[in-house]
Amino acid sequence: MSVIRKLLPAELALYRAHLLRLDKADRYARFTGTTSDTTIVRHCDGIDWSRTLLIGAFIGGELRGVVELCSDRMLWPADTELAISVEKPFQEMGLGSALVRRALTIARNRFAKRLHLYCLAENRRMRALARKFGGRAEQDGGDVTITLDLPPANQFSLALEALEESAGAVDSLLGRWRAGRPDLAAA
Ligand SMILES: CC(C)(COP(=O)(O)OP(=O)(O)OC[C@H]1O[C@@H](n2cnc3c(N)ncnc32)[C@H](O)[C@@H]1OP(=O)(O)O)[C@@H](O)C(=O)NCCC(=O)NCCS
Repeated sequence: MSVIRKLLPAELALYRAHLLRLDKADRYARFTGTTSDTTIVRHCDGIDWSRTLLIGAFIGGELRGVVELCSDRMLWPADTELAISVEKPFQEMGLGSALVRRALTIARNRFAKRLHLYCLAENRRMRALARKFGGRAEQDGGDVTITLDLPPANQFSLALEALEESAGAVDSLLGRWRAGRPDLAAA
Protein backbone atom coordinates (compact mmCIF):
# COMPACT_ATOMS: atom_id res chain seq x y z
CA MET A 1 0.00 0.00 0.00
CA SER A 2 1.44 3.40 -0.94
CA VAL A 3 0.60 6.64 0.83
CA ILE A 4 1.60 10.15 -0.23
CA ARG A 5 1.35 12.88 2.38
CA LYS A 6 3.16 15.89 3.83
CA LEU A 7 5.78 15.15 6.47
CA LEU A 8 5.72 16.77 9.89
CA PRO A 9 8.84 18.36 11.45
CA ALA A 10 8.73 15.52 14.01
CA GLU A 11 9.34 13.10 11.10
CA LEU A 12 12.66 14.64 10.10
CA ALA A 13 14.50 11.46 11.15
CA LEU A 14 12.52 9.51 8.51
CA TYR A 15 13.66 11.94 5.81
CA ARG A 16 17.28 11.74 6.99
CA ALA A 17 17.14 7.92 6.92
CA HIS A 18 15.62 8.00 3.42
CA LEU A 19 18.38 10.27 2.07
CA LEU A 20 21.06 8.15 3.76
CA ARG A 21 19.66 5.06 1.98
CA LEU A 22 20.21 6.64 -1.47
CA ASP A 23 23.12 5.03 -3.28
CA LYS A 24 26.15 6.99 -4.49
CA ALA A 25 24.75 7.74 -7.97
CA ASP A 26 21.34 8.85 -6.71
CA ARG A 27 22.92 11.08 -4.04
CA TYR A 28 25.08 12.62 -6.76
CA ALA A 29 21.98 13.20 -8.92
CA ARG A 30 19.90 14.55 -6.03
CA PHE A 31 22.49 17.01 -4.71
CA THR A 32 24.29 17.56 -8.07
CA GLY A 33 27.59 16.52 -6.53
CA THR A 34 29.32 14.04 -4.25
CA THR A 35 27.46 13.91 -0.94
CA SER A 36 28.69 12.28 2.26
CA ASP A 37 26.56 11.03 5.17
CA THR A 38 27.71 14.07 7.16
CA THR A 39 26.50 16.45 4.46
CA ILE A 40 23.10 14.74 4.42
CA VAL A 41 22.79 15.00 8.20
CA ARG A 42 23.78 18.68 8.00
CA HIS A 43 21.29 19.27 5.17
CA CYS A 44 18.45 17.80 7.27
CA ASP A 45 19.47 19.69 10.43
CA GLY A 46 19.49 22.90 8.39
CA ILE A 47 15.94 22.59 7.07
CA ASP A 48 13.98 25.77 7.76
CA TRP A 49 10.42 24.54 8.25
CA SER A 50 9.00 28.04 7.79
CA ARG A 51 9.97 27.88 4.11
CA THR A 52 10.21 24.16 3.41
CA LEU A 53 7.55 21.56 2.77
CA LEU A 54 8.34 17.86 2.51
CA ILE A 55 5.99 15.52 0.67
CA GLY A 56 6.69 11.87 1.29
CA ALA A 57 5.74 8.63 -0.45
CA PHE A 58 5.42 5.70 1.95
CA ILE A 59 5.38 2.12 0.73
CA GLY A 60 4.49 -0.54 3.26
CA GLY A 61 4.89 2.12 5.97
CA GLU A 62 8.48 3.05 4.95
CA LEU A 63 9.37 6.43 3.47
CA ARG A 64 10.76 5.67 -0.02
CA GLY A 65 10.44 8.95 -1.91
CA VAL A 66 10.39 12.64 -0.98
CA VAL A 67 9.87 15.98 -2.68
CA GLU A 68 11.47 18.93 -0.92
CA LEU A 69 9.71 22.20 -1.80
CA CYS A 70 11.48 25.42 -0.76
CA SER A 71 10.22 28.95 -1.08
CA ASP A 72 11.02 32.39 0.25
CA ARG A 73 7.91 34.56 0.38
CA MET A 74 9.90 37.72 1.08
CA LEU A 75 12.57 37.38 -1.60
CA TRP A 76 10.88 35.29 -4.32
CA PRO A 77 7.14 35.19 -3.58
CA ALA A 78 6.27 33.75 -7.02
CA ASP A 79 8.94 31.03 -7.14
CA THR A 80 9.37 27.64 -5.50
CA GLU A 81 12.26 25.21 -5.78
CA LEU A 82 11.77 21.46 -5.97
CA ALA A 83 14.19 18.61 -5.28
CA ILE A 84 13.18 14.96 -5.39
CA SER A 85 14.53 11.56 -4.47
CA VAL A 86 13.15 8.04 -4.88
CA GLU A 87 15.09 5.05 -3.56
CA LYS A 88 16.50 2.79 -6.29
CA PRO A 89 14.30 -0.33 -5.74
CA PHE A 90 11.21 1.91 -6.00
CA GLN A 91 12.20 3.87 -9.13
CA GLU A 92 10.43 3.48 -12.47
CA MET A 93 7.16 2.64 -10.70
CA GLY A 94 5.55 6.06 -11.14
CA LEU A 95 6.41 7.29 -7.64
CA GLY A 96 8.47 10.27 -8.91
CA SER A 97 5.63 11.35 -11.21
CA ALA A 98 3.05 11.03 -8.41
CA LEU A 99 5.22 13.12 -6.06
CA VAL A 100 5.84 15.84 -8.66
CA ARG A 101 2.15 16.01 -9.54
CA ARG A 102 1.29 16.43 -5.86
CA ALA A 103 4.01 19.08 -5.44
CA LEU A 104 2.65 21.08 -8.39
CA THR A 105 -0.80 21.30 -6.79
CA ILE A 106 0.65 22.28 -3.41
CA ALA A 107 2.99 24.95 -4.86
CA ARG A 108 0.15 26.35 -6.95
CA ASN A 109 -2.05 26.57 -3.84
CA ARG A 110 0.76 28.55 -2.09
CA PHE A 111 0.45 31.19 -4.87
CA ALA A 112 3.70 30.20 -6.57
CA LYS A 113 3.75 31.03 -10.28
CA ARG A 114 6.83 29.02 -11.18
CA LEU A 115 8.49 25.91 -9.91
CA HIS A 116 12.22 25.41 -10.55
CA LEU A 117 14.36 22.33 -10.28
CA TYR A 118 18.05 21.82 -10.85
CA CYS A 119 19.59 18.64 -12.16
CA LEU A 120 22.58 17.36 -14.05
CA ALA A 121 22.36 17.49 -17.84
CA GLU A 122 22.90 13.70 -17.93
CA ASN A 123 19.88 13.05 -15.64
CA ARG A 124 17.63 11.74 -18.42
CA ARG A 125 14.99 10.36 -16.12
CA MET A 126 14.49 13.64 -14.23
CA ARG A 127 14.42 15.58 -17.47
CA ALA A 128 11.84 13.20 -18.97
CA LEU A 129 9.76 13.42 -15.81
CA ALA A 130 9.79 17.24 -15.86
CA ARG A 131 8.97 17.29 -19.59
CA LYS A 132 5.84 15.25 -18.89
CA PHE A 133 4.59 18.15 -16.76
CA GLY A 134 5.53 20.82 -19.31
CA GLY A 135 8.94 21.74 -17.87
CA ARG A 136 11.24 24.01 -19.91
CA ALA A 137 14.92 23.13 -19.65
CA GLU A 138 17.83 25.56 -19.87
CA GLN A 139 21.26 23.99 -19.98
CA ASP A 140 24.35 25.69 -18.59
CA GLY A 141 27.34 23.39 -19.08
CA GLY A 142 26.73 20.19 -17.11
CA ASP A 143 23.73 21.61 -15.20
CA VAL A 144 20.14 22.10 -16.23
CA THR A 145 17.52 24.42 -14.75
CA ILE A 146 13.97 23.28 -15.41
CA THR A 147 11.06 25.68 -14.97
CA LEU A 148 7.41 24.70 -14.76
CA ASP A 149 4.75 27.41 -15.01
CA LEU A 150 1.89 27.01 -12.56
CA PRO A 151 -1.70 28.07 -13.15
CA PRO A 152 -3.34 30.16 -10.43
CA ALA A 153 -4.96 28.30 -7.51
CA ASN A 154 -8.69 27.75 -7.78
CA GLN A 155 -11.37 25.97 -5.77
CA PHE A 156 -10.57 22.68 -7.50
CA SER A 157 -6.83 22.78 -6.77
CA LEU A 158 -7.56 23.72 -3.13
CA ALA A 159 -10.17 20.95 -2.83
CA LEU A 160 -7.78 18.45 -4.47
CA GLU A 161 -5.02 19.21 -1.95
CA ALA A 162 -7.46 18.93 0.98
CA LEU A 163 -8.89 15.66 -0.36
CA GLU A 164 -5.49 14.08 -1.08
CA GLU A 165 -4.15 15.13 2.31
CA SER A 166 -7.08 13.63 4.19
CA ALA A 167 -6.89 10.47 2.07
CA GLY A 168 -3.15 10.30 2.97
CA ALA A 169 -3.93 10.63 6.69
CA VAL A 170 -6.62 7.92 6.55
CA ASP A 171 -4.38 5.58 4.48
CA SER A 172 -1.58 6.15 6.96
CA LEU A 173 -3.78 5.21 9.92
CA LEU A 174 -5.13 2.18 8.06
CA GLY A 175 -1.56 1.12 7.22
CA ARG A 176 -0.55 1.27 10.89
CA TRP A 177 -3.66 -0.63 11.94
CA ARG A 178 -2.99 -3.32 9.32
CA ALA A 179 0.66 -3.57 10.41
CA GLY A 180 -0.60 -4.58 13.84
CA ARG A 181 -2.95 -7.11 12.22
CA PRO A 182 -0.80 -9.61 10.23
CA ASP A 183 -3.99 -11.52 9.37
CA LEU A 184 -5.00 -8.51 7.19
CA ALA A 185 -1.64 -8.03 5.48
CA ALA A 186 -2.68 -9.83 2.32
CA ALA A 187 -6.09 -8.09 2.13
C1 LIG B 1 14.45 11.18 -10.98
C2 LIG B 1 13.63 10.28 -10.07
C3 LIG B 1 13.00 11.10 -8.95
C4 LIG B 1 12.49 9.62 -10.91
O1 LIG B 1 11.69 8.86 -10.04
P1 LIG B 1 10.86 7.61 -10.57
O2 LIG B 1 9.99 7.16 -9.45
O3 LIG B 1 11.79 6.62 -11.16
O4 LIG B 1 9.99 8.30 -11.71
P2 LIG B 1 8.80 7.66 -12.56
O5 LIG B 1 8.71 6.18 -12.36
O6 LIG B 1 7.56 8.46 -12.27
O7 LIG B 1 9.29 7.93 -14.05
C5 LIG B 1 9.31 9.25 -14.51
C6 LIG B 1 9.62 9.31 -16.00
O8 LIG B 1 11.00 9.10 -16.21
C7 LIG B 1 11.19 8.57 -17.51
N1 LIG B 1 12.04 7.40 -17.37
C8 LIG B 1 11.86 6.30 -16.61
N2 LIG B 1 12.92 5.49 -16.74
C9 LIG B 1 13.78 6.10 -17.59
C10 LIG B 1 15.05 5.76 -18.10
N3 LIG B 1 15.65 4.61 -17.75
N4 LIG B 1 15.65 6.64 -18.94
C11 LIG B 1 15.04 7.80 -19.30
N5 LIG B 1 13.83 8.17 -18.81
C12 LIG B 1 13.22 7.32 -18.00
C13 LIG B 1 9.84 8.25 -18.09
O9 LIG B 1 9.45 9.32 -18.93
C14 LIG B 1 8.98 8.25 -16.86
O10 LIG B 1 7.67 8.63 -17.10
P3 LIG B 1 6.65 7.59 -17.84
O11 LIG B 1 6.91 6.24 -17.22
O12 LIG B 1 5.30 8.13 -17.52
O13 LIG B 1 7.02 7.65 -19.28
C15 LIG B 1 14.49 9.12 -9.46
O14 LIG B 1 15.14 8.46 -10.54
C16 LIG B 1 15.54 9.59 -8.47
O15 LIG B 1 15.25 9.75 -7.28
N6 LIG B 1 16.79 9.82 -8.93
C17 LIG B 1 17.87 10.26 -8.04
C18 LIG B 1 17.66 11.68 -7.53
C19 LIG B 1 17.47 12.66 -8.66
O16 LIG B 1 17.95 12.50 -9.77
N7 LIG B 1 16.75 13.77 -8.36
C20 LIG B 1 16.53 14.82 -9.35
C21 LIG B 1 17.30 16.06 -9.07
S1 LIG B 1 16.67 16.93 -7.66
